[in-house]
Amino acid sequence: MATRDDIEHWKSLPFVRLNEGRQSKAAEKQPDPDLGFGTIPASRYTSPAFHKAEWDRMWTRVWLVGGREELIPDAGDWMTHTVGPENFIFARQEDGSIRGFFNVCPHRGNRILPTDGTGAAHSFKCGYHHWEWDVSGQHIHVPDIETFPQLNGCTQHLKQVKVDTWGGFFWFSMNPDAEPLRDYLGVIPDHLDPYRFEDMKLIDWKTIEWDCNWKASVDAFNETYHVQGIHPELLSWLDDWNVQIDCLGRHNRYIVPFTTPSPRYRDQRTLSEVMVGMAQLNGLDPADFEGNPRGLRLAIQKAKRAKQDDSIYPYKDLSDDQLSDDYHYMIFPNFTMNIYGETMLLFVSRPHPTDPNRMYYDLMNFAHLDKDQPYQIPDHQTYRHGQISLGLVLDQDAHNLPLVQAGMNSSAYDGLILGTQELRIRHFHKTLMDYVGADVDAD
Ligand code: FES
Ligand SMILES: [Fe+2]
Repeated sequence: MATRDDIEHWKSLPFVRLNEGRQSKAAEKQPDPDLGFGTIPASRYTSPAFHKAEWDRMWTRVWLVGGREELIPDAGDWMTHTVGPENFIFARQEDGSIRGFFNVCPHRGNRILPTDGTGAAHSFKCGYHHWEWDVSGQHIHVPDIETFPQLNGCTQHLKQVKVDTWGGFFWFSMNPDAEPLRDYLGVIPDHLDPYRFEDMKLIDWKTIEWDCNWKASVDAFNETYHVQGIHPELLSWLDDWNVQIDCLGRHNRYIVPFTTPSPRYRDQRTLSEVMVGMAQLNGLDPADFEGNPRGLRLAIQKAKRAKQDDSIYPYKDLSDDQLSDDYHYMIFPNFTMNIYGETMLLFVSRPHPTDPNRMYYDLMNFAHLDKDQPYQIPDHQTYRHGQISLGLVLDQDAHNLPLVQAGMNSSAYDGLILGTQELRIRHFHKTLMDYVGADVDAD
């Protein structure tokens, strides 16, 4: 059992961020913004008025992820996607571009397509009275159009949203005046393009309805301070202390060293079972690291570097610590990525249409696959909270969130008291309030 003094000593040891080999601008530490230490009001997580203001002033102004490009590869392919009270149709066009529309019939308001689906079509026809549009959203046919003198022979086209692509995803904005997606993303493509997300394949896709505010979900993955609290199993192989946090315009990230024990871990001399497995997976002899588990991380970087020329993974273009560590990015407001050289785990937190106490958590797994490896796009499955296991770690996170939400609704709770390890949450709130405006901080 480590004493508090032991832990303070291990926390104070120097940590190697990058070693020899390829360096990366993406790894550079940015100066921390001075955002103070004020309490973040709990009402931002519980108030219906704030929820509504957030929709009107933030969700409808920003760029949001719509889906994965590989889900609609050919002209006429479509998929639908919900954010808050709105549902959208995204359709691949003849010229290869993607257009997006509100999934609402201008006649009497029916949904034109199923609200959570994919398909292929020559045209979109509303099921109620059969008004019809081509896949570019242009009107084709209104039965008995002569009975609608107000239409002058032509119904409305479908109402469009802006669409652009990056990283193998299509993104959209309800804001007709939104800046170009690349400007919105800022430095993110410069940092992350080397991972080649567009070449990764989607291998798992689930949505779980969670009983918490969407921001509680974003927050849960934006700090490592909770690892010692609810994920003690991770401490033998993940360093939750030597974490680099960077605020990147609207967005932010942290870099978490993997395959190295946390200073909080009780045994700094013996490789845990997970560390032994990681050594073996990388062709290294675990015995070489007995007495020095911290050496494994740099050895794994070297092992991956050595095979970079024959690898299906983009090791060649990654910095040394990108070969071993978790590069964890949050693209404002709700796109959270756990990024590794081989795989990427994506969380998208979507708001409930009306209830600040509920949300939808999209979980997508991606991997670089060998070209010969058989591949099929997975079905999208939807669950209620607790209906299925998401694995030990995510189950631990999920278990906590409804309890957090309940506590936030208590009259005894004032708001979030955030420490320096939670800077990303404070920065997220700064960006959020830049959109929403301080005048709507409800109480
Ligand atoms: S509601 Fe769509 S055609 Fe009437
Ligand atoms: Fe967690």
